[in-house]
Amino acid sequence: MKKIQISPSILSADFGQLDNEIKRLEDAGADMIHVDVMDGHFVPNLTIGPPVIKALRKNSKLTFDVHLMISPVHKYIKDFADAGADIITIHPEATDNLKESINQIKSLKKKVGVSLNPDTKVDIIEKELENIDLVLVMSVYPGFGGQKFIPDVIKKIQILKKIKDEKNYSYDIEVDGGINFSNSKDVVSAGANILVSGTTIFRENDGNIKKNIETLKEV
Ligand code: DX5
Ligand code: ZN
Repeated sequence: MKKIQISPSILSADFGQLDNEIKRLEDAGADMIHVDVMDGHFVPNLTIGPPVIKALRKNSKLTFDVHLMISPVHKYIKDFADAGADIITIHPEATDNLKESINQIKSLKKKVGVSLNPDTKVDIIEKELENIDLVLVMSVYPGFGGQKFIPDVIKKIQILKKIKDEKNYSYDIEVDGGINFSNSKDVVSAGANILVSGTTIFRENDGNIKKNIETLKEV
């Protein structure tokens, strides 16, 4: 069985109880916490920023997998690093200089991820693949939880896995959006090793998050 990590998205959590929700996820076996940061500009939704992450950081030791759907992103990277993000994932379209933003995240001793929207091809980040820790493949158009998985992205996952194996790169392949019990196996066999999920984890099996995390891991 492949070692799959689950990164539950707190976008589907109870925002009035985020501390407890993160504790619940930790107790339920989450490998990290996916924090969706949205600015209402890069995506048509607005969520949380560094102050909330800083507050949550105090009470959790879990890896904070912070997905920045904000633009321009470069000038905010340090704020999120200082707030306690462990992985900082940015969208190439949100920075004037992807290499500079990647270097900025690395200089702050954080893991760096780059996210590809459904229509964004691998080749726009191919040159950076050797320098990054994670590729976040969006399987929905970013902005909201509960959307339908876009199956075309399976091909992109396979391409990323092929490059990773051929060039012996070490980046994780994380997939984010519409992940459920029927598509998770296809996504993993295509090459993903981290699954993000909000709706499936918080809503399926009457909200039994432990069962839902375990079921997603069974691939
Ligand atoms: C969407 C976010 C995703 C989303 C996943 O913009 O990046 O992380 O919350 O949620 P589900 O699993 O509900 O599709
Ligand atoms: Zn996300």
